[in-house]
Amino acid sequence: MLASLSLAGLALTASTVSALPRAGPAALESNHAYRSPSRQIRDLAIDTSEVYAGLGKRWTDTYQGNLTFPYGVASGDSYSDSVILWTMPRKLDLGGLYGGNAWPPICLQWIVSSNDTDFTEASMVQNGFVQTTEDIRYAVKVEALELKPYTQYYYRFESCEGPELGVSPVGIFKTLPAEDDDIAKLRLAVFSCSNLPFGMFNAYGNAANHSETLDFVQHVGDYIYEYKNGDYGDGTALGRVPQPDREISSLQDYRDRYASYRVDPDLQELHRTLAWMAVWDDHEVADNTWKWGSADSNDTLQGQVGDYQFSERKANAVRAYYEWMPIRQVDTDDKLRIWRSFKLGTLGSMIMLDTRQYDRSETDLYYNTDEIIAVSGDSDRSLTGWKQQQWLYEQLQEHKEREATWPLIFQQIVFSRVNYSIATGGTTEFNVDAWEGYRYEREQILEFIEGKDIENVVILSGDSHATWVSDLKRENGTYNPVTGEGALGVEFAGSAVSSPSSYGHGPNVGIAANLTAASPSLQYAEGQLRGYFELTLTPSNITADFYGFADQQTRNSNVTHMGSFTAQKGANKLSRPLNGGQTPVYGSLGAGKA
Ligand SMILES: *[C@@H]1O[C@H](CO)[C@@H](O)[C@H](O)[C@H]1NC(C)=O
Ligand SMILES: *[C@@H]1O[C@H](CO)[C@@H](O)[C@H](O)[C@H]1NC(C)=O
Ligand SMILES: *[C@@H]1O[C@H](CO)[C@@H](O)[C@H](O)[C@H]1NC(C)=O
Ligand SMILES: *[C@@H]1O[C@H](CO)[C@@H](O)[C@H](O)[C@H]1NC(C)=O
Ligand SMILES: *[C@@H]1O[C@H](CO)[C@@H](O)[C@H](O)[C@H]1NC(C)=O
Ligand SMILES: *[C@@H]1O[C@H](CO)[C@@H](O)[C@H](O)[C@H]1NC(C)=O
Ligand SMILES: *[C@@H]1O[C@H](CO)[C@@H](O)[C@H](O)[C@H]1NC(C)=O
Ligand SMILES: *[C@@H]1O[C@H](CO)[C@@H](O)[C@H](O)[C@H]1NC(C)=O
Ligand SMILES: *[C@@H]1O[C@H](CO)[C@@H](O)[C@H](O)[C@H]1NC(C)=O
Repeated sequence: MLASLSLAGLALTASTVSALPRAGPAALESNHAYRSPSRQIRDLAIDTSEVYAGLGKRWTDTYQGNLTFPYGVASGDSYSDSVILWTMPRKLDLGGLYGGNAWPPICLQWIVSSNDTDFTEASMVQNGFVQTTEDIRYAVKVEALELKPYTQYYYRFESCEGPELGVSPVGIFKTLPAEDDDIAKLRLAVFSCSNLPFGMFNAYGNAANHSETLDFVQHVGDYIYEYKNGDYGDGTALGRVPQPDREISSLQDYRDRYASYRVDPDLQELHRTLAWMAVWDDHEVADNTWKWGSADSNDTLQGQVGDYQFSERKANAVRAYYEWMPIRQVDTDDKLRIWRSFKLGTLGSMIMLDTRQYDRSETDLYYNTDEIIAVSGDSDRSLTGWKQQQWLYEQLQEHKEREATWPLIFQQIVFSRVNYSIATGGTTEFNVDAWEGYRYEREQILEFIEGKDIENVVILSGDSHATWVSDLKRENGTYNPVTGEGALGVEFAGSAVSSPSSYGHGPNVGIAANLTAASPSLQYAEGQLRGYFELTLTPSNITADFYGFADQQTRNSNVTHMGSFTAQKGANKLSRPLNGGQTPVYGSLGAGKA
């Protein structure tokens, strides 16, 4: 039976509503932002019983003034029966955007409704009361439970004193299909690398403007950047100077950086209109992170930024990320674990990896490039860490056992081999900050996919600020680039929302053609346009449509449909002819174009 999107169900009775605790430890404890991200690891969380004790008897005395919601609302990590809802109110008469004052706490009521305008008990589906304090900069993150699968809902937050003292915008989200639901179609929008000073977030705006045709958003990282204005993009002329204007390292720095991004109207609108599933890349902490450092910080004295050594800086970054992003903490014993999975009914599984922060062996830090090239194939190097790698295998096996169609592996860095020799004048053949620097593990994963007959694998990537579409192949495997014979799946890697191309901004068909010619499994390359891609999953095929913008200096709707690439169920390769036989205006097709 085909399940289809339904509108929401049963209203709660009046007695259920009034029985909910508006105050007390429960209203603090229901705020997941205090466990940011781990309840067990105390330097990364706030103990709500301590907050409660600190507030003493006065804790029922919550803020009575007007509230505003300058950062809007957000939802994320939908399951078939629950979702995370987020907001961050500000006291209208106190504090301002970046400040906040310690006293008193804010109390909000959150309401999930089946109706976009009616938030009374007639349409209310779930609600609750939640408190927040200065300890977490008034972040509010709650889990709405007992929802129906593959259903669209509306939600809002309001002052516990009543909506006349402050009500948030109305947000929209969908729940996931139930595990065994046969859904005819799902549409996802996949983003990466959104740098505020480099330009407008037209990619977010474009998706938000037709959000009714989409189901979920994925962001595979570099959602913020850590730099001082001018070090990587100068936002002065566009009024997009990231705050605070220094390279960030403290908890307050990371919090304020998120605040300066989240006032962007296109970003805010995409958060408001769809549930997101996000994972970080390096810049949510620092450039080119690996498990013990980044390009400019580590735990030795000369490697620190601000007052913080790398480990402390990373803890600050992680905590701010969990406060600001509507994501779940899947394992509270494992403080840095963000890797997690979602089941898309029988259509597929969404496996989200952390190829950056969790347990990665040393990467290219600019001063050690030759050294990393020399060890790029070593068996003692790992990108995911052993624990995450075993989990990936279990996820792929479970996907196969439940006979779902598309195993989607969302991660950060480009997986397939891209030979950049021509674009760098022969100085660099491969980017060893990508999977190319971890060739042994890449080979192991492909061997697993081949050996266990995992069908229809699709890898989704960001990080590189350019578009790459590839067949998946073993490094020395038999593969025919014209027909795709021998391929083990496909990879779709998207361009950046705004971060610049490494290949210049002129027409780059020549460079792209040389890149596809030098890399057999690379079937489409494009480096000029900023953008994102949309994935359409059906029981018989998966299609990636790439969208690009030539102009980031204005907020505009001049979007280019760059190309459309499909894989048919059971084919484990891109369909030929590529892009339906059309020559794309931007970029260049590989050998499968005929
Ligand atoms: C809230 O704002 C309204 C006007 O927007 C004002 O009339 C009212 O007095 C304010 N309430 C409080 C408690 O400050
Ligand atoms: C929402 O409620 C209003 C009346 O309060 C009604 O006119 C409208 O049709 C409802 N919308 C939906 C989507 O049910
Ligand atoms: C720490 O970083 C500095 C550069 O900032 C580098 O010179 C040093 O080798 C690094 N230390 C370690 C242990 O990696
Ligand atoms: C990379 O491409 C260049 C030409 O663009 C070629 O000379 C070189 O052999 C290639 N490297 C590999 C490993 O294929
Ligand atoms: C592929 O072949 C080349 C050349 O023989 C070799 O250097 C490389 O290690 C091989 N790669 C793998 C993953 O076996
Ligand atoms: C691409 O390669 C051709 C030779 O095959 C060369 O003439 C051309 O200059 C190259 N283009 C770029 C942009 O490097
Ligand atoms: C993909 O599958 C859907 C549903 O079966 C079908 O309507 C559509 O034409 C297919 N698209 C391609 C490119 O094969
Ligand atoms: C989205 O819609 C708004 C309002 O109609 C418009 O101003 C904006 O340019 C659109 N953005 C994109 C990227 O289409
Ligand atoms: C729209 O973008 C295309 C590039 O995709 C560009 O050629 C065209 O000049 C742009 N049009 C406007 C009105 O900016």
